[in-house]
Amino acid sequence: MLRLFAFSLVLCVGSCAPFKRAFLDPSAAYQAALNATWLTFWSPQQQMWNQNDPACNSGFSAPSVWNAAVAAKAVTDSYDGLSAYSVAQLLIANYQNPQGWFLALTNKDNDCYTDDNAQVAWVLVDSYQVTRNQAHLAAAQQVVGLIRSQWYANGGGVRWLVNGDYLASISTAEAALAAMRVYDVAPDPSLVLFADLCVEWLFANLQDPKDGLLFDGKQASSGTVNDGKLTYSVGTAMSALAYLYKHTGNTNYVTQAINLGSAATNRTGAFYLSSGIWNNPLQYLHLLFAGFADLLTLAPPQSGDQERLYQFFAQEVTRQAQYVFQYLQIDGTGSYTSNLYSYLQLVFQKFAATNTPTQGYKPDPGNFCGGNVNGRNLRSLMDNALALQVFHEASRVLW
Ligand SMILES: *[C@@H]1O[C@H](CO)[C@@H](O)[C@H](O)[C@H]1NC(C)=O
Ligand SMILES: *[C@@H]1O[C@H](CO)[C@@H](O)[C@H](O)[C@H]1NC(C)=O
Repeated sequence: MLRLFAFSLVLCVGSCAPFKRAFLDPSAAYQAALNATWLTFWSPQQQMWNQNDPACNSGFSAPSVWNAAVAAKAVTDSYDGLSAYSVAQLLIANYQNPQGWFLALTNKDNDCYTDDNAQVAWVLVDSYQVTRNQAHLAAAQQVVGLIRSQWYANGGGVRWLVNGDYLASISTAEAALAAMRVYDVAPDPSLVLFADLCVEWLFANLQDPKDGLLFDGKQASSGTVNDGKLTYSVGTAMSALAYLYKHTGNTNYVTQAINLGSAATNRTGAFYLSSGIWNNPLQYLHLLFAGFADLLTLAPPQSGDQERLYQFFAQEVTRQAQYVFQYLQIDGTGSYTSNLYSYLQLVFQKFAATNTPTQGYKPDPGNFCGGNVNGRNLRSLMDNALALQVFHEASRVLW
């Protein structure tokens, strides 16, 4: 921990004025953001997240299941049984349909995505781990069973939209991780086989040989590949591989995860801005932090070379988390934004004072109360939840 601290100091020499550098203590940042999130977004009446900022809108509005599940995971990361129970329960109460799927919106039309469902499964397993609530384990097992039914029989990959045509890298990677998280608490060998199929399918079908990263997905019917690249597929694949290693001892999984980690930290690669900051919005980025944290904690280094590489990964994760803490926090409140350029001018100016922005400041009225870009900023449940997850994962790599 001291070593990482010194590393941050070196980066700061001569370049910190006029804003004082605030050092990241990931656990303290996590706790402060957790408090802010409960206070702002929890509705005790509804026993549910309210996605409105109450300082601007006194009404209640339910988030999508994706946002609700990300916020729930941010809470279960605290390992507090009572709150883990509440957030797992809100997902069941508000989004689950009679078959066991978790629907995208609380209006319960039939919009349903396997990646959302995998994220719900992680929360249910987390809750089971601290509460031993059997219903939460059963719901996790049920949802993983449903996700497995979305494996494309004619060539593999997990369908993104339930019964849809698109085979996404994210749904496949998240399905693998959900299976392994369930295996962790309720071992069933078929879950390991499924997770292995998923990750091997990703490497065989969606890895770009030029830089080692993963493409977004492909259509089952035409085979057409969408060659976009997002950090969350890579991060989640790393997590799934780390769990596969944990339960099989097969070091090939570690090698594959390390190769993904190296590809993700290629400074001239697709995941970096010229400023040296990871370039995805936080909603894709938090799972890359998790991928590194899972690799470093579940697959201990076996050689000096691997140890040095892990130190590099840990420093990079810490540096990127420091950026979130220092530049995406709203005035030291424990609330966060995911966008430097469209939110608060002060937030942007603080960044621009010591870094090279890749674009100018352009406030988005959607980020302000009543659309007034000179007025009060709107706080966001999702952005807070993403920052929470980033700090939690950063606290796991301080080794
Ligand atoms: C968070 O809230 C708890 C309980 O109210 C309190 O004890 C703690 O000091 C708070 N932590 C931070 C960092 O605000
Ligand atoms: C890093 O990324 C660049 C740009 O995609 C690529 O040309 C280069 O081969 C990558 N380096 C490695 C070691 O993969």
